[in-house]
Amino acid sequence: MLLQIPDLLTTEQVAHARRLLADAPWQHGSETAGRQAAVAKNNLQLPLDCEAARTISRAVVEAVERSALMLTATLPRRIYAPRVNRYGGDWPNYGEHVDNAVRFDPETGEQVRTDISCTVFLSDPVEYDGGELQVRDTFAAHGIKLPAGHAVIYPGTSVHQVTAVTRGCRLACFFWIESLVRSAEQRRLLFDFDMALMHLREAHGEDTHTVALSGTYHNLLRMWAGH
Ligand code: NI
Repeated sequence: MLLQIPDLLTTEQVAHARRLLADAPWQHGSETAGRQAAVAKNNLQLPLDCEAARTISRAVVEAVERSALMLTATLPRRIYAPRVNRYGGDWPNYGEHVDNAVRFDPETGEQVRTDISCTVFLSDPVEYDGGELQVRDTFAAHGIKLPAGHAVIYPGTSVHQVTAVTRGCRLACFFWIESLVRSAEQRRLLFDFDMALMHLREAHGEDTHTVALSGTYHNLLRMWAGH
């Protein structure tokens, strides 16, 4: 499922992140890519152990945990510590690749299965040309370029790329989520169910039927949550 999460970060959080990134110690992105991905990876990335990376990573995880839309769409079990990257100048793109299925999180020492990929945009589209996130599915390659503070989630299983930035610079944060529900199909059913239930409650208030449906939602989640 491709889904936009508007305003995951506030304008103030984006501005703060941008100030921290102004003189950050960037390094070459291939250091954290798998072998196939490293060949295609032509960008810069913040090392984990700098203040900017830690502060931004923490803000993004907190934002995910506060976002009802994000939580219902992803049902997170683990979140891989968000990283920050930069495209532009001599390091303009990341060619087509697939992300490693399992990543070792150096922060927590845990293995994280990359069910869902997420990008949080830290630059506005007017600041750069190119730099589109393209996610391929069975229908087409979808081009995604969102305002700063917005996020997009897409299946960890998909082939994707970031096209070359030809003007300016594109800053973004990226991370992966291991979901309580491994199957994308089951996750999608739960998401549709939860959204419809939310609209029912808004329109008619809580009643016996919405309580019963809510019970069914949780029973499905209980049945499907596992490894
Ligand atoms: Ni990737």
